[in-house]
Amino acid sequence: MTARLNVNIDHVATVRQARRAPEPSVVAAAMLCEQAGADGITIHLRGDRRHIQDADVKTLRETTTTYLNLEMAATEEMLKVALETRPDAVTLVPENANEITTEGGLNVLANVAIVRATVNRLRQAGILASVFIDPDPKQIEAAHEVSAQQIELCTGAYAESTLGARGMHGEGALRVGQELRRLREGAALATQYGLLVAAGHGLTYRNVGAVAAFSEITEFNIGHNIVAYSIFVGLERAVREMREAIRLGSG
Ligand code: PXP
Repeated sequence: MTARLNVNIDHVATVRQARRAPEPSVVAAAMLCEQAGADGITIHLRGDRRHIQDADVKTLRETTTTYLNLEMAATEEMLKVALETRPDAVTLVPENANEITTEGGLNVLANVAIVRATVNRLRQAGILASVFIDPDPKQIEAAHEVSAQQIELCTGAYAESTLGARGMHGEGALRVGQELRRLREGAALATQYGLLVAAGHGLTYRNVGAVAAFSEITEFNIGHNIVAYSIFVGLERAVREMREAIRLGSG
């Protein structure tokens, strides 16, 4: 079965926040994504509020008709927002103040107590608890241990390995192969633990297919590439083409 696509619309808010203006509307963007066949909307409420704002989470919860996945750090401040707004899923991510974007997965192993407590409170509220982790067997085991229901495998290292990789031979191709193997084995291990498996970060129209071939992966969260392409072709076509790339990859 073809994996679901949640479109991360953070960058729509990034453009809006560049002018602190009402436009472009994240609500309109979410509606267009849904009309184009997105299975869900993903947003990241960062501690620094650089793109998505608290009011966006509230409004998108009211207007999103498909599925709302809120990415957030495992802090009391964010947990309060999640429990008040009740997205369908929360994905716990690491957050560093000066990072340009999320840099790799959450170290669940080193933060078992806080992640477990956060997962428990989300689950009690009926919110699906997902953790964004690297495809590392120890982190996958830790995700299972803290009772997460889903992991989102960080595809960042894979995506980076594919940069400039067209027609690549030798070392470059080897690295892509290694990163794909880590994702495939990670997805298989997580499934053995009974975890749902999502994937995301740095995925593009070109590199998503190889990951979509892994049947254990049932959900993709993709933002930057779709929003970037939408500047030229519009959001609906950008979403449709990403869905098609996932469908083709899943064979
Ligand atoms: N998944 C997670 C957990 C993320 O933090 C991000 C970036 O916010 C994405 C997916 C989407 O990554 P990209 O914008 O590179 O597609």
